[in-house]
Amino acid sequence: MNTELVQKIKRSFIDTYKTEPLMIFSPGRINIIGEHTDYNDGFVFPAAVNKGIVAGIHKSDSGKSTAFAVDKDEKIEFSLDSLKPATAGSWENYILGVVAEIQNRSKIIGNFNIAFGGDIPGGAGMSSSAALENSVVFGLNELFNLGLSKEEMILISQKAEHNYVGVKCGIMDQYASMFGIENHALLLDCRTVKAKPYKIDFKDYELILINTNVKHSLSDSAYNDRRSVCESIADMLKVKALRDATEYDLESIKANVTPENYQKALYVIQENNRVVAASKAMEADDLKTLGALIYASHEGLQNQYKVSCDELDFLVAQAKLNGHVLGARMMGGGFGGCTINLVAKNESEAFQTQVSKVYKEKFNKECSIYAVKLSEGTHLIK
Ligand code: GLA
Repeated sequence: MNTELVQKIKRSFIDTYKTEPLMIFSPGRINIIGEHTDYNDGFVFPAAVNKGIVAGIHKSDSGKSTAFAVDKDEKIEFSLDSLKPATAGSWENYILGVVAEIQNRSKIIGNFNIAFGGDIPGGAGMSSSAALENSVVFGLNELFNLGLSKEEMILISQKAEHNYVGVKCGIMDQYASMFGIENHALLLDCRTVKAKPYKIDFKDYELILINTNVKHSLSDSAYNDRRSVCESIADMLKVKALRDATEYDLESIKANVTPENYQKALYVIQENNRVVAASKAMEADDLKTLGALIYASHEGLQNQYKVSCDELDFLVAQAKLNGHVLGARMMGGGFGGCTINLVAKNESEAFQTQVSKVYKEKFNKECSIYAVKLSEGTHLIK
């Protein structure tokens, strides 16, 4: 966690509200493999990272509540008894949505002030939104002794995203951010919402993220459209979710769906199988197989599920040209954000220099590279 960021948010809070806040850190996440499988009740393999959202929160006796986005220097005021979504695409909905969903569960909260800032760029595919939602619900739970379990908190965060932000997301991001474990990734079954932690030590290899600096916007209907395609195909197959279908099952209705939708469902079924295969490869310390699965995941995201973009495809193609990168793929919802790369440690710097150079030449803009540390989930900062 970034101590400068903590100091900055704390100072802003004290300057603005003249009192000491409760401080919370809520991390973003990476995902090793398993993209767009979460809302199909499938498997994912995320981990919380040491970057995310820092929030300061305190009760307010002014008769209203406020939220202060320190990085944007924007502040809103709202009343707890007349909540409604703000303009689509605005940060406010992450906060208002969480408050509204807490109220929907008949939990009583009083007025509060919250100030927050972060060190993951929005739209990077690292779930700054889930980190923010979790920091709000976690903070309010502490402040007003709501007695919510972490399981309940992540469902509140997810509902905020569905109903206020307008993205019908799965549970991966909120889960990983809340339940992260230092040095571990989580093999999460999104049907049971239970995870098996895997200690991550890739020995001579490391994970790095390369941000295209193309900002995706999930609220854009592409995400929700894909979810509804998956659900309608699951209906046709008479299964609860695509997680329950095999390639063979899908074949049986091939004539009744468009080739595009067939490929999307096929991608989901295959990606879900890849996550399970990846967990086995990790148990066997077989990084070559893991890397191949990661490349295959990108292939599917690019050509079948169609959620990639030129910049992401270029970065993955560059990784493939380099014999020291075992696997690379786009990460998160898609249409921009980061690739995740499994790279030999002693060749990583050379790869980073090379990829930055050719990216600049090709797109006339910079990419950003992040090393990640797998970290603890949402928690109070002591
Ligand atoms: C976004 C959503 C997640 C998940 C990913 C794709 O991050 O919030 O629920 O669906 O996209 O894997």
